[in-house]
Amino acid sequence: MDISLIAERILFGNRLEDKLLLPEKWTDDNRGRGMGIPSSPGRPEALAFAPKAARVPFPQTRELDDDRTRGIVLHFFANHELLAIEIMALALLRFPDAPDAFRQGLMQTIAEEQGHLRLYQKRMQALGVKLGAVPVNQFFWDCLKTMQNPLDFVVGMSLTFEQANLDFARYYEQAFTQLGDSETAAILQRVYEDEIGHVKHGVSWLHRWKDPEESEWQAYQKRLKLPLSPARAKGPIFDIEARRRANLSDDFVEQLDVFSGSKGGKLPALHWYNADCELELARESPGYSPNQGTRKVMGELMTCMMFVAKPGDVVLAHKAPSPRWLGRMRDLGFDLPEFYEQPESARELRRMIESRRWERLTPWGWTPRSLDMARIIDPSGQKPLPIDLATEGFWQNPWMELFRKSALPGLRRDLRQELSGDDQSLWGPQEADGALLRDMTDVLMAVSRLHEQFGTPAVIKSPYGFAGSGMLRAYPGQDLSESQLGWIERQLKLYGAVLIEPWLQRIADISVVWSPDEEDLSSFVFHTNAKGQYKGHSLQPVSYALEPELRSMMFAVKQGQEAAYERLLEVAGLVRSKLQERGYRYAAGIDTMLYRWRDRIYLRVLGEVNCRMTMGHIARGLRKRVNPYQPSLWQTITALEAQGKGWAKLTDLAQALQDQHPVRSKQNAVEKGIFFTNDPYQSQYVLGVVAVGAEAISACEGMGALSASQSALNDIT
Ligand SMILES: [Fe+2]
Ligand SMILES: [Fe+2]
Repeated sequence: MDISLIAERILFGNRLEDKLLLPEKWTDDNRGRGMGIPSSPGRPEALAFAPKAARVPFPQTRELDDDRTRGIVLHFFANHELLAIEIMALALLRFPDAPDAFRQGLMQTIAEEQGHLRLYQKRMQALGVKLGAVPVNQFFWDCLKTMQNPLDFVVGMSLTFEQANLDFARYYEQAFTQLGDSETAAILQRVYEDEIGHVKHGVSWLHRWKDPEESEWQAYQKRLKLPLSPARAKGPIFDIEARRRANLSDDFVEQLDVFSGSKGGKLPALHWYNADCELELARESPGYSPNQGTRKVMGELMTCMMFVAKPGDVVLAHKAPSPRWLGRMRDLGFDLPEFYEQPESARELRRMIESRRWERLTPWGWTPRSLDMARIIDPSGQKPLPIDLATEGFWQNPWMELFRKSALPGLRRDLRQELSGDDQSLWGPQEADGALLRDMTDVLMAVSRLHEQFGTPAVIKSPYGFAGSGMLRAYPGQDLSESQLGWIERQLKLYGAVLIEPWLQRIADISVVWSPDEEDLSSFVFHTNAKGQYKGHSLQPVSYALEPELRSMMFAVKQGQEAAYERLLEVAGLVRSKLQERGYRYAAGIDTMLYRWRDRIYLRVLGEVNCRMTMGHIARGLRKRVNPYQPSLWQTITALEAQGKGWAKLTDLAQALQDQHPVRSKQNAVEKGIFFTNDPYQSQYVLGVVAVGAEAISACEGMGALSASQSALNDIT
């Protein structure tokens, strides 16, 4: 009998005998021209594909001590075998030009699948379930009937469904053994052994057909089309041994092991680290594109969005992180998202985004660029955005007003009033709130007033800059230089105003952050350098992270008054609702500080407002896996800083830190050691380092948060 005839009977016959047909010998002489795509296979009536509503859920492992339930599980497995047989027959009919050896291999595989089907059928009957008694699904068929070439078959069938079956067969073999059902366990053992051979068959053809430049993993991922995804190539356990025996490369096995994309049930959110959002907004007009330096540094930090992502979400990355690092992060208890490499061109990016459906975009910050991306994700604009948009244009969005530094003096003044009267003993003198001035004479007068009252330099800031950048200091007893005056003139011309504040003696920085998906506010002590540029976060709760003197200042309850810390949260809550009133319902935060003036410590009512995600949001994700009782420091170390300490490359520094300060975890929380928040095996410019415990922290002395030097990083964080 000819293969094409056998395959036709198997695929379109509607009796079980047709499905189980297999002559002892076959020929392959009349291959035909290749069949089109049939809508469905022939099936005995009882095994016809059932509508979704009629189907039963797959039983839970804990229900397996019931005979009938075990029979139902086997019925699911039997249907999978049947679907595999039909899809293999379809491949034979669709691809007559495939090599002889491939077609013969398929026939061999069909024979084994038929064997599995028989074994399942017999066993389920003994357990009280007849084949056809349970409504069956058609998922494999729907995924694979459109395969266009033999490689599609190999990728979808052998390397996805059959590979997953390695895990399922092993898992249920163990489960049945534990239940004392050795008969069923033996069937699964047999299936397991055979499936290793089927996957191996697929691997050998993948090697023959893939581009030699591509790795197995690249070739596999590239050809997989949703709803198929690598997540479908894994089961409830991950059997490395079986995959090795099937000749899958170590790299492939590692990549698949840490792959955490969604199986397609829940739509993923797309996370995009556009940390240059403030640079984009500062232009006050569209058309921004990041410069080379920003691109490089930001590119390496893009993966930090994994700490705000949920399992199944996708994080855009400049380069896919190594499975080695991801494996470590998973071992520390972090959920891994799926990573997409961000294409260089806008057109490629669009194509990539359009290739699947998304729940929403989660950018670092909302800007015209992220808005463009959100519109690709949701072209019809049906899903509500977390920001209101003014018809006049992005820069006219009412919430942007609060974001501009020019709003700060007014905001601070309002907050003082809304916070149960002006409490100077906590917030310090009103003049510390600063003022917005519109001409040079006012600026010069204000400078001398501040010098008189505070005895410290006056700080003059661009009203639309970032933390620490775009500012100058006017020292008491010194005249402003020509270039300083020129800078002030330029700001007045550009923005119509400058901000002026006394320089306050900073003792500690504190931030409070929030986001729509978490009701609670989170607070942190963070670190800045002498210029106020961001350097790192402590992951401990604020009460532990502060020095004892500051702790009692923040947390002591005096004369029945609320503790200062509670007032700080109140400020954050007020800012949050002000933003909401103006149409901003996305992630945001405030920074503020404790400062010393005339031997007393005050809490600044508000440092600044960040209308975007912040390092605090990332720190909130990191904190979950770090012991709260140990001092900890999360900071970014630059290649330059590593070189300053004698390391040729960041990767060398990372290796040494990791070797000398291995992580010790207890109950999913690190209590000692060093780990990294971006890939330490690939980083060239910046490395995020979490040091837990005093020893680990001092190992980073002279770099990151503990260095006095400046770095390119500060301009964008
Ligand atoms: Fe099978
Ligand atoms: Fe198989």
